[in-house]
Amino acid sequence: MSESNANRRWPKPISILTKISFITGGIYILISLTLPILLIIYPTIVKHIVFMNFLKTGTNFTQPEAFGVDRVFNFYLDVEPTVRLGIWHYRSPLVQDQSYTTDEEYFQKHIESTSSKIPIIIYFHGNAFDRSLFNRRGMCKKLREELKYDVFTFDYRGFGDSTGEPTEEGLIRDARYVYDWLHNISNGQRKIYIWGQSLGSSVACQLAARLSDDESKSLAGIVMEAAFINIHQALQTHYLSLLFRWQPWFSSLTEKALRINKLGFQTRGHLSSVNCPCVLLHADDDYTVPYFHGKQLLQAGLAARDDHKQKKKLLHFTIDMISYHGAGYGHSLIYRAPNLIPTLKRVIFDEDL
Ligand SMILES: *[C@@H]1O[C@H](CO)[C@@H](O)[C@H](O)[C@H]1NC(C)=O
Ligand SMILES: *[C@@H]1O[C@H](CO)[C@@H](O)[C@H](O)[C@H]1NC(C)=O
Repeated sequence: MSESNANRRWPKPISILTKISFITGGIYILISLTLPILLIIYPTIVKHIVFMNFLKTGTNFTQPEAFGVDRVFNFYLDVEPTVRLGIWHYRSPLVQDQSYTTDEEYFQKHIESTSSKIPIIIYFHGNAFDRSLFNRRGMCKKLREELKYDVFTFDYRGFGDSTGEPTEEGLIRDARYVYDWLHNISNGQRKIYIWGQSLGSSVACQLAARLSDDESKSLAGIVMEAAFINIHQALQTHYLSLLFRWQPWFSSLTEKALRINKLGFQTRGHLSSVNCPCVLLHADDDYTVPYFHGKQLLQAGLAARDDHKQKKKLLHFTIDMISYHGAGYGHSLIYRAPNLIPTLKRVIFDEDL
């Protein structure tokens, strides 16, 4: 058998590698050419990229026990004629279960009773999927078990089984409604903390900024997990944009598309209006929202605090940051940190009830 025949039958590995490189290079060039064109002719695409609410888990929300979580009550709130939010209430272990037949009776027995001083946490989740995602359940369970608080988490309009279409203003209105409803139903007697992860931390921060105008509606504190400076910066620094962000169109076209869709999520800008203790949580191996976002928010918060002091404003705003180094928590797994709650108790949450 001649050498040339052998070559023909067994292509050299280098040629397969070359083919793969050509294909990958081709795909890369294709995306590099189509993405800017798409952003120009169909800027709404950026809304789908930011919210990703088209991703569904297919959960039957009426059965939280299917996930092995007990004492979780599913209910709905009508925010606007076309917007109904699905909510899960993780009941505090300090409240005895009783029998009830209607939602109203349930709320009366578990939330309204004015004798209850158990604080409430509202958990605002990040983009994509819904309140049943494993890390969201993980955090809500942990907060309920270790703090013994009542924990509420809901899906924004257009997420999970909530109706409507997401917009930035819409998400904040949903957050405000859930806060107001809980404030009302507990007669303003119970401390309310808010907790946001990723995109949810921007929603939480904006809710806190709005509530600071209202003396009667104070927040006990806000925790911002894996928070970003603003959504434009978040898109620039996401690991998926790594390959494109050096191209001259990327920054300006995404900025323009975000503006057309009224998407700012200016967390850093709103932080200076917050009037309650704030804690940032960030892992340095987070490649979705890199660690420097958290550091910059901390700097902005410290600067705001200095500014309040100079102007002799009497605000309740304080800022702390808890960082995780090389622990493998990435963007979504901080709920696994063993000392999370004991550490938070020292800076923000009430000591044992
Ligand atoms: C979800 O579960 C409830 C209670 O078992 C059931 O009545 C309902 O039909 C289920 N919904 C869907 C969409 O499967
Ligand atoms: C809360 O109570 C106020 C005052 O009664 C009312 O105007 C508002 O609509 C209530 N909000 C919710 C969400 O229940």
